Amino acid sequence: MARTFFVGGNWKCNGTSDDVKKIVGVLNGAEVPPEDVVEVVVSPPYVFLPLVKSLLRSDFGVAAQNCWVRKGGAFTGEISVEMLVNLNIPWVILGHSERRLLLNESNECYIWNIQLLCFSLQFVGDKVAYALSQGLKVIACVGETLEQRESGSTMAVVAAQTKAIAERVLNWDNIVLAYEPVWAIGTGKVATPAQAQEVHTELRKWLHENTGPEVAASVRIIYGGSVNGKNCKELAAQPDVDGFLVGGASLKPEFIDITRDRI
Ligand code: G3H
Repeated sequence: MARTFFVGGNWKCNGTSDDVKKIVGVLNGAEVPPEDVVEVVVSPPYVFLPLVKSLLRSDFGVAAQNCWVRKGGAFTGEISVEMLVNLNIPWVILGHSERRLLLNESNECYIWNIQLLCFSLQFVGDKVAYALSQGLKVIACVGETLEQRESGSTMAVVAAQTKAIAERVLNWDNIVLAYEPVWAIGTGKVATPAQAQEVHTELRKWLHENTGPEVAASVRIIYGGSVNGKNCKELAAQPDVDGFLVGGASLKPEFIDITRDRI
């Protein structure tokens, strides 16, 4: 089954409105493959979403970098799925390792006690399920730390992270799975094409066994971690690498080179 190549640009917590306007200017002037060949989605910080949405050409998608796990309400500082839907933001990145590790978002069940109401949350999986239920598309991130890789538990870790999502989701049509080894993020130490392909193959096998052949064949599994204009070609040549989630390089004009990798 042909899977449309996907290139996401995660701008993380960077930039001012002037920087954002400059990046959007570069994107708007770029020649990129048509949408049915490469799907391009950029993810600015929350406060710039409306600005980017209003300025960016319509063949590029826009993603939020996070959202609240359930319907909005008395959750100071959070941004709800309903708000994203209201702003016509079609995508959201969930389960990014910077949120899993720095902000404790996890596969595990928590018992929360909010306003005397106790409920358990399997945080990332519940976020994915809720965002999908409200019509958003999700870039769901999984990946192991260096310690986990060195101890030989890479596949166990990414399988557990994927399982936490699969347990709550029946339809995978609107999910892109991003494999992002934590040791490769922002370090300049990109996974080799063979390392990326190995995990992507295993993930596809896991999907085949646990969600069925159709999902396994159609879900796009993209790679993230120090992708740049130079290393993208070899990675993209791997049969199970269906695109990228780009961090640092997505703030630079070389992001365009990464989207053009397929032509
Ligand atoms: O979401 C993007 C990833 O965290 C990769 O970031 O390209 O700066 O390593 P990076």
